[in-house]
Amino acid sequence: MLPGAPAIMKSASQALTRAARPLLVPRARALGLAAPELVQSDNLPKYNAAKLAGRPFMPGSESKGLPATLNPIRVDFPAVFHPKAPGDADRLPLEEWGAMVREIVDRELPNTGVLLFRGLPIRTREDYARLFDGTGLAPRDYVGHAGRREQLDTNVYSSNDDPLEYTIDIHTELSFMPAPPQKVIFCCIKSPGEHGGGETPVTDMRGVMRDLDSSLLDRVRTRQIRYVRNIPDKSRSSWNWQSNMHTGDREEVERFLTGKGFSYRWNADDSLSYWFSTDGLCEHPGSGETYWFNQMTEHNGSCFKVHPEFMNETKDISQFPKHTSYGDGEEFSAEDLAHVREVQWKNSYGFHWRVGDVLVMDNFMVGHGRMGCNPGVTERKIIASITKN
Ligand SMILES: [Fe+2]
Repeated sequence: MLPGAPAIMKSASQALTRAARPLLVPRARALGLAAPELVQSDNLPKYNAAKLAGRPFMPGSESKGLPATLNPIRVDFPAVFHPKAPGDADRLPLEEWGAMVREIVDRELPNTGVLLFRGLPIRTREDYARLFDGTGLAPRDYVGHAGRREQLDTNVYSSNDDPLEYTIDIHTELSFMPAPPQKVIFCCIKSPGEHGGGETPVTDMRGVMRDLDSSLLDRVRTRQIRYVRNIPDKSRSSWNWQSNMHTGDREEVERFLTGKGFSYRWNADDSLSYWFSTDGLCEHPGSGETYWFNQMTEHNGSCFKVHPEFMNETKDISQFPKHTSYGDGEEFSAEDLAHVREVQWKNSYGFHWRVGDVLVMDNFMVGHGRMGCNPGVTERKIIASITKN
């Protein structure tokens, strides 16, 4: 390494073009060792492409235009970083690896939108929490989220508790909420392996914007998207408004919803329905670029028609726990939903999780979902954080 070269580098050649910014690694220096560093991998990981067309328990998989399989990751999407030397992983406390991760995130994420850190010594959620603390990123909570997740730690949540075989449609996180998270971070604690499915597809939203039908974009831009939730009481479902809202106090729920400008209704079976309309496109807070930023498909009631726990219910799709329409209440056509799903999957990329992997996404530039796990898989544990910055 050249004197004064940064301790974190993407590659030797690129390091020469970057401003030198030494990273303090006191422990390594005290031991007289070369400072551990994170470098970008030259090799793309092997990928056994997930089936898309005709996949069971996957919304829209019967659409004729859907790609047959999920793309393998491409160069820089995500860019993959790992400790440079074998044995480096255990030479630093996780908080210091977290500081290195933060430097790379600040430098690279505005360009790539997604980064995968591999080979860090993370085995438990407590390990991950230490790494997250080291990044100095400001955590955001999940209050008002529509998914099923559990708070595991101050800043750490289960990624999603839907049945493992179910494929979660592509979306951007909390994109229906004011002040949505800037970054989404996932960490793998238990991997389903290379043949188990359960990948987290990452979606290039620039590509989605490029490929979406311009008249649909215009309709969503002018008419917005309405989000409807029909959430059972805890006496009827493990997925309930009490856990969703983090309270059992109806007045507190009403204050939260009113404060957000949402409409709501308590139903005879003690379930809660509420709805609101919001923009389906959003300018990136940093670059000003316009992105498809919504949960039009993942939130649509059509998903429940292939969900293992709901698929036998005969109710109208608008009565399922989540639903979307245009902001004025008109339903999206089946063709529009199929088109959006096709474009989103065409621009999505997959990799096999390894224990300790940390995936960092810009929540505007990159969407995500979850492939269903293959039959027989019982273990997949991906934990999540979302951030304000
Ligand atoms: Fe998500």
